Amino acid sequence: MALEKPTGHDRKHQERLLQSGEVPRHIAIIMDGNGRWAQRRGLPRIAGHHEGVNSVRDIVEACGQLGVKYLTLYAFSTENWKRPQEEVSLLMRLLLKALRDEKDRLHQNEVRLKAIGDIAALPQDVQDELLDGMEKMKKNAGLTLVLALSYSGRWDITNAIKGIWDDMRSGAIKRDEITQELVSSYLATSEIPDPDLLIRTSGELRISNFLIWQIAYSELYISQSYWPAFRRKDLYAAIADFQRRERRFGMVSEQLPQNEPGRLVPLRGMERFLKSASKL
Ligand code: FPP
Repeated sequence: MALEKPTGHDRKHQERLLQSGEVPRHIAIIMDGNGRWAQRRGLPRIAGHHEGVNSVRDIVEACGQLGVKYLTLYAFSTENWKRPQEEVSLLMRLLLKALRDEKDRLHQNEVRLKAIGDIAALPQDVQDELLDGMEKMKKNAGLTLVLALSYSGRWDITNAIKGIWDDMRSGAIKRDEITQELVSSYLATSEIPDPDLLIRTSGELRISNFLIWQIAYSELYISQSYWPAFRRKDLYAAIADFQRRERRFGMVSEQLPQNEPGRLVPLRGMERFLKSASKL
């Protein structure tokens, strides 16, 4: 079945975004502020996590419609295990329910599901549901939704070092063959390109042990919205902001392919220029 189409005003918003520049290939999100969103309303913290699932649904759908190829969500960190037992257990129940409820819809929307992290640490029923969902959706060609579960960047790098150590001992790799690309290939994200855009909600200015190796050149965007209030309009604002950035990857502006002397102004840029000139 085809991807659900955006409607009316939303479609116009998406069309504008698609015309105004590149949509990031990979967006990673630190979903933060569920507890504060709930507390502000006099509700228990879990109510924020519940509403957060609705934000997940909306953002996944909008990313699919926009042609984003990868969306990685920091759903449960290694450190989150230290939360009160009751909250951890409610979060696991909620995750299980969300996976069960959304599986068919994700599949119909051509989403491919992946998980990164210490998956073996999750309750058995969550692991089973995840494996079932990943198997069902493995051939889908739309958005790849990556759930970071029991994940942390330091866990990922430590695991990669163990893998490299094992392969060095067996003689499969030699010291001089250790390059940045090789290290990347031992990370949980080996088949996923690095994020172009990292969004964090709730205004906090921290990386919180997320994809610490992979975000070396990601553009950062901090949203003041708490995650349960973060919906597609906020995503569009983040993408529009991303489109205004100049990604130099350590080089100077003039070296970037789009700024080489004599290179024609890209059509999209030219269209924008003509539009603004006609208003003068
Ligand atoms: C951070 O808010 C959020 C989490 C630790 C969990 C995120 C989980 C969900 C949105 C639900 C399930 C996810 C999926 C993928 C279906 P916080 O609790 O740290 O909020 P606070 O900083 O205000 O305390």
